[in-house]
Amino acid sequence: MIELVPETCVAAFDPEKIFKRRAPLQVDLGCGDGSFLCELAQKFPEKNFLGIERLRGRVARACRKADKIDNVRVLQAETSSAVRYLLPPESVETFYLLFPDPWPKRRHHRRRIVTPEFLNSIHRALEPDGVLHIATDYLDYFQHIERLVRATPTAPRLRFEIGNPDDVDPFDSRSGQVLPPTKFEKRFRAQGAPI
Ligand SMILES: C[S@@+](CC[C@H](N)C(=O)[O-])C[C@H]1O[C@@H](n2cnc3c(N)ncnc32)[C@H](O)[C@@H]1O
Repeated sequence: MIELVPETCVAAFDPEKIFKRRAPLQVDLGCGDGSFLCELAQKFPEKNFLGIERLRGRVARACRKADKIDNVRVLQAETSSAVRYLLPPESVETFYLLFPDPWPKRRHHRRRIVTPEFLNSIHRALEPDGVLHIATDYLDYFQHIERLVRATPTAPRLRFEIGNPDDVDPFDSRSGQVLPPTKFEKRFRAQGAPI
């Protein structure tokens, strides 16, 4: 079973039960068609990978990609509530929020996923020393996220690092994992967008 259908939307699930083993958990928020998720899962078979995506068609595509990969599960859900309600405290080694919708129009900014509440939920779900990777091609959103992270009350536990925009093979400073480019990253780089 690749697609995860939780019994309730307001109680945390047990990752050990879902993956049928205990292993470090990495979560891709807005995983799209699951390309990045599945590539990473195949590179790191000793870890568990959960993709969260709200669009049904993309969830179906991610499930098809993950069909033969044991350490992947996909959840159709809205990211903010899934992080807040479904992930147990200190259960996630790494979150990926890669190319979240930037909602460029000012009147749509309130739809952006990164808010103080979201950062607090991430902080609660992360293991000590856990990592949240965020990538965007949209400078205004980057600056907005930077301001929020610096102002968040959980900041004493946070170390904020800005990656090198020219680095086409970014890596996770905690695990040393080289991160493959996502589908949207390839698209944006091809257009010459700064990442
Ligand atoms: C620009 S795409 C990036 C996809 C992928 N991360 C990549 O880099 O190739 C943004 C993805 O996030 C999903 N998404 C946007 N808002 C979401 C939300 N609130 N909850 C879950 N998924 C969301 C979209 O449906 C879309 O698949």
